Amino acid sequence: MGERRFYHGGDYNPEQWLKMPEILNKDLELMEKARVNIVTLGVFSWSMLEPEEGKYDLDWLADIIDKLYARGISVDLATPSAAKPAWLAQKYPEVLRVGANRVREKYGNRHSHCYTSPVYREKVRAVDQALARRFGAHPGVVMWHISNELGGECHCELCQNAFREWLRGRYGSLDKLNEAWNSAFWSHIYSDWSQIESPAPHGEGAMHGLILDWKRFVTQRTLDFYRMERDAVRELVPGAKFTVNMMYRFDGLDYYKFAPGLDMISWDDYPTWHKAGESDEEIALKSSMMHDFFYSLKGQPFWMMESSPSMTNWQPVSKVKKPGVQMLSGLNAVAHGADAVMYFQWRQSRGAVEKFHGAVVGHDGREDSRPFRETAELGKALEALSPIAGALRAKEAAIVYDVESKWAMEGAQGPRNIGLGYWDEVMLHYRALQKRAVTVDFVNEDGDISGYKLVVCPMLYMLREDFCEKLRAFVAGGGTLVLTYWSGVADETDLCRLGDTPYGLTDVLGLRRLEIDGMYDGETRRCVPVSAENAPEAFGRVLCEVAEVSTAKPLYKYAEDYFKGAPAAAVNFFGNGRTYYLATRFEPGFYSELYAKLAADLFDSPIKQPLPEGVLPAKRGDWLFVQNTTGEEAEAMDAKLPPYGTLILNLKTGERLIY
Ligand code: GLA
Ligand code: ZN
Repeated sequence: MGERRFYHGGDYNPEQWLKMPEILNKDLELMEKARVNIVTLGVFSWSMLEPEEGKYDLDWLADIIDKLYARGISVDLATPSAAKPAWLAQKYPEVLRVGANRVREKYGNRHSHCYTSPVYREKVRAVDQALARRFGAHPGVVMWHISNELGGECHCELCQNAFREWLRGRYGSLDKLNEAWNSAFWSHIYSDWSQIESPAPHGEGAMHGLILDWKRFVTQRTLDFYRMERDAVRELVPGAKFTVNMMYRFDGLDYYKFAPGLDMISWDDYPTWHKAGESDEEIALKSSMMHDFFYSLKGQPFWMMESSPSMTNWQPVSKVKKPGVQMLSGLNAVAHGADAVMYFQWRQSRGAVEKFHGAVVGHDGREDSRPFRETAELGKALEALSPIAGALRAKEAAIVYDVESKWAMEGAQGPRNIGLGYWDEVMLHYRALQKRAVTVDFVNEDGDISGYKLVVCPMLYMLREDFCEKLRAFVAGGGTLVLTYWSGVADETDLCRLGDTPYGLTDVLGLRRLEIDGMYDGETRRCVPVSAENAPEAFGRVLCEVAEVSTAKPLYKYAEDYFKGAPAAAVNFFGNGRTYYLATRFEPGFYSELYAKLAADLFDSPIKQPLPEGVLPAKRGDWLFVQNTTGEEAEAMDAKLPPYGTLILNLKTGERLIY
């Protein structure tokens, strides 16, 4: 690593083909043709690597790694902990996960182990070290892929005890814990640590502080397991690099907490291209947003670890990618900061649950199939684009996405229990900024917002003292803050803030919250602009907050119901900066207007004219990518973009490439 080049490749499962050496030889030949330079190996190989307890058979893997290396193909070597052998579960039932209903799972599927079990940890450590000993020094092994898509939780007694220990460390005393959870509610005062249990459908579901801490604990437990695996390898391979493959909008774990311990962020991207009722532009935006989130975790390029070369087989309906979409989607990842474009999977398996999942090489084994040809084309493009690899993105705008805040907000019973649509809210802001080629990062409340010009807080329900201070300093220092309804409501143990809210920001916003009204699906509340002539009416939905202004200047007012006249949107000047407060959720057009104005004020955008519907820009380093997400030709930046085509423009040299 180090040199400027993109990685191109994907999950390779030779363990499914060991009895067909001709297939394995063919793979090497085809990989070269598809310009594959990396494969992920061994993710689900445990039962082949350790067919009997303590008896390792690594020769087959060594042979494959050597052959790949001889062809210039690197290896992202996985530890096999995501799927255990049957003998292990049979001999040591404690390794099997226990559900929230307290029922222990049977052997089967994958990702079903307990993260606490000492036996599981010992067995994982042993097989990881066997791999590290054998392959740690191999020049072809450039990355260690720990486990697979970490996630899930276990409620066994071992985990319950670990939870209690973790709480003891966090609170020190039961008194403090009872206070933090407001345990006097429904007579919940705990008098012994052993009384505390994780949430259960037939047990605890009412103590929000407990539920929130359980989620934090699950992250801590999983992270602890990750560290155990990483250290097992690192002990023997001091220079090893580590990644874990993360998932789309997954909030079962707080990924921010994983970032410092990883060398490379990677994630698995499975957009629902060509979904009925949703434009491909919207689908591309959803992936773009996740690329941006994963870039933000370390402020560094990441790997798109998995993506399907044609269709998935687990979505409600599995569409194949139309011609050109493989290129569009690969370059979209690159535009947003990916240094690797990888697939699940190289060769389509013959049996079991993923036999119809897309692959570069299908059951027909042919190299003139569409997925193969389009993969090879993308591989070629990535080689040509290698100067872009490693390029960083400018720091412009940040959206505050704090996982703990989302957990607390969604865990609370409140103004709308039929769904708060958190991601819908985030997308409204993201889409409008992205369309203007503003580079968007994501930060949580531990993050540093000082380098940005614009910070957006969509529904920042839980507002910590220290982050509140950061927001105040940011605005006072000249920053622009956009903050929505349902922000600054609770503290970090989900106790409601006492006194005026949004907590700690009423002077920064120039207003205070009086009430918040839940809205039924489809229910709207009409809002009118205060001064801007010809500005369109807007409609509030989902939640309508009612505020009373002190220094803020209303931009929109509610025009209906008893709170007619209250601000629906307002601006306030504070220190050298300003804040925009949005009291409700408007339609997309509202955000386009707002962010078009802010983008023009704050950023020097290469996009002077709004781009046509379906065309999306993104900046990375010196390059501007302009992508046509439609199946029709489009015109943008004085160029004709083919269906699903991408224009890559070097903003320094003026060089233009079209794919
Ligand atoms: C996930 C997993 C892979 C595979 C793909 C299929 O991303 O990590 O092992 O199951 O899904 O889409
Ligand atoms: Zn457990």
